[in-house]
Amino acid sequence: MTKYFNGTIQELETKVASKLSDYRFQHVLRVRDYAVKLAKKNGVDPEKAEIAALVHDYAKERSDREFLSIIELKSLDKDLENWGNYIWHGVVGAEIIRDELNIDDSEILNAVREHTTGAGETMSKLSQVIFMADYLELGRHFKGVEEARAITEKSLAAGVRFQIVHTISRLVSKETKIYPKSIETYNYWLDKGNGN
Ligand SMILES: [Fe+2]
Ligand SMILES: [Fe+2]
Repeated sequence: MTKYFNGTIQELETKVASKLSDYRFQHVLRVRDYAVKLAKKNGVDPEKAEIAALVHDYAKERSDREFLSIIELKSLDKDLENWGNYIWHGVVGAEIIRDELNIDDSEILNAVREHTTGAGETMSKLSQVIFMADYLELGRHFKGVEEARAITEKSLAAGVRFQIVHTISRLVSKETKIYPKSIETYNYWLDKGNGN
C-alpha cells in the first residue's frame, strides 16, 4: 500500500502498462528510476516522485476524441481545444488519472499537468523532478544529453532552465506554435535557473 495510491506500486505498474504500448511503458519505468534518483538528491518524497513518474504518460495513447470530450465534459479551459496530444496528455491526462486511478494528490496531478511545459513560480520541486526525469531518462540520446544530466545533477533549477531554453529554441527554429505555459516557464527560469 502506498500513501498516494490505493494499492501497491506493482499494482499501479500493471494498471499503467495495460494502457500503454510496451515501448512507452519502458520509457515510463526509466523516468521512474531517474525521478527517484533526482527526488532523493533534492529533498522530494521519493514515493511521491515514483508515483508521479509512473503515471505521467498514463493518458498519452488516448484518442484526440477522448481528450476533446473530457475538455468539454469537465469545462476545462476552452483554449485547450486549439492544442493537441502533446499538451492534452498532461493537462487532461491529470483528470483521467484522478478518475481512473483515484490519485488525488494535487502536487502529483500538477506534476503530470506540467510535465511537458513546465511552469513558472508555482512549479513545485516534485514537478521539476518529473519534468527533468522525462527529459533525461537513460533512453534519451539527443545531442547534449550528457551535459544536461551533469547540469541537473548539480542544480535542479539549472536543469529546468537548460531544458526550457533548448525546447523553446527548437520550437522556434521549427516555426511551431508555443503553448503560453512554456513561455511562462522560459521567462521565469531564465533568471531563476542561474541562481538569481
Ligand atoms: Fe509525456
Ligand atoms: Fe514521458
